[in-house]
Amino acid sequence: MHNLNIKSANKDYQVNFYKEIDDIIKSIKDKKAFYLIDENVYLFYKDYFKYKPRLVVPALETSKTLDYASNIFDHLINRDFKSDVHLVVIGGGILQDLGGFIASTFCRGVKYTLVPTTLLAMCDSCIGGKTSINHHKRKNILGTFYPPDEVKISLEFLNTLDKRNLFSGYGELIKFYCLDNNIFNIDLDNLEECVYYGLNKKSKIIQTDEFDKGERKLLNFGHTFGHALESASNYAIPHGSAVIIGILAANEISSNLGYCSERYNTNVRDKLLPFITHLKLKKEWFVFDKLLSYIKSDKKNTGKNINMVLHNNGSYSIFPINDLEILETSLSTVYEVIRLRN
Ligand SMILES: NC(=O)c1ccc[n+]([C@@H]2O[C@H](COP(=O)([O-])OP(=O)(O)OC[C@H]3O[C@@H](n4cnc5c(N)ncnc54)[C@H](O)[C@@H]3O)[C@@H](O)[C@H]2O)c1
Repeated sequence: MHNLNIKSANKDYQVNFYKEIDDIIKSIKDKKAFYLIDENVYLFYKDYFKYKPRLVVPALETSKTLDYASNIFDHLINRDFKSDVHLVVIGGGILQDLGGFIASTFCRGVKYTLVPTTLLAMCDSCIGGKTSINHHKRKNILGTFYPPDEVKISLEFLNTLDKRNLFSGYGELIKFYCLDNNIFNIDLDNLEECVYYGLNKKSKIIQTDEFDKGERKLLNFGHTFGHALESASNYAIPHGSAVIIGILAANEISSNLGYCSERYNTNVRDKLLPFITHLKLKKEWFVFDKLLSYIKSDKKNTGKNINMVLHNNGSYSIFPINDLEILETSLSTVYEVIRLRN
């Protein structure tokens, strides 16, 4: 099975792949372990956690809030956990973002292990140490950099993941392959290799730019429109699927600016459209002015510019965009193309 070593300023850590969930559970022997478990994962896999001290958390964006974090702190304090607690966070990106935030702030930082249970969390969010909390409708606006002590992956968890969330995971995987100009070689029948590919790609980037000052921002490809669409749809479009639409919009902009050929743009679009045609999209989520207000609050922006990761003749970089018309026309083209395919 695969494994990866990741170097980080805070601590180095390992990502280990396991065949079965049972192998993961048996490998956690720490007497101070406390389990934060995604509610749906708990329903499917309860028997593994019968005798484990635990808190079951709804996997909703509304759980990624200071109020909810405060509940968890109360819970830990009431159970008399201190700085030697070892949090074992079992779930998707929501649980990881929230659990990582708790781990990084409780007693100024405690040990934590991530056990990702969605494809998105396995191939992307389990490494890199970004912890996040939403605040007043601003997604991921609060957070820390705090890597886990270990990541334990078993693809067995994916047996219970629904299509909507599986396809959302494909979104982040697709992003990694796009950044390598390798999207036409993605082989989703070999999902473990794809997960490893994504993690390997991300690990190289985060080890060069852990704190998001330069190259790591490229991992935001597709996220400018992606985050805005997630917010505008009130999270009805799952994160990774919104990223796919964001990639289509970014490539449309590249094509309009002459950074890539129309042919390249349409080839990538044809490859990616099947991953989003199951979504029931509402026109109101695509109202440009509404999206623009979300886009303007994107963390990548500087001054009045909207900074977007764009494909430019085979490489990727951040471009400042101040021509709003090009954003609007590109988005409306993408919306029409998706609508016609649905
Ligand atoms: N920190 C990072 O680097 C990073 C990167 C990308 C995304 N994110 C964040 O991740 C979040 C999205 O995460 P996600 O896509 O993993 O979704 P999620 O955590 O919202 O989970 C999606 C749904 O799947 C359910 N679920 C999870 N595992 C399951 C399983 N094995 N079987 C059945 N159901 C299961 C959950 O209960 C939930 O209903 C967003 O909040 C996003 O901002 C963080």
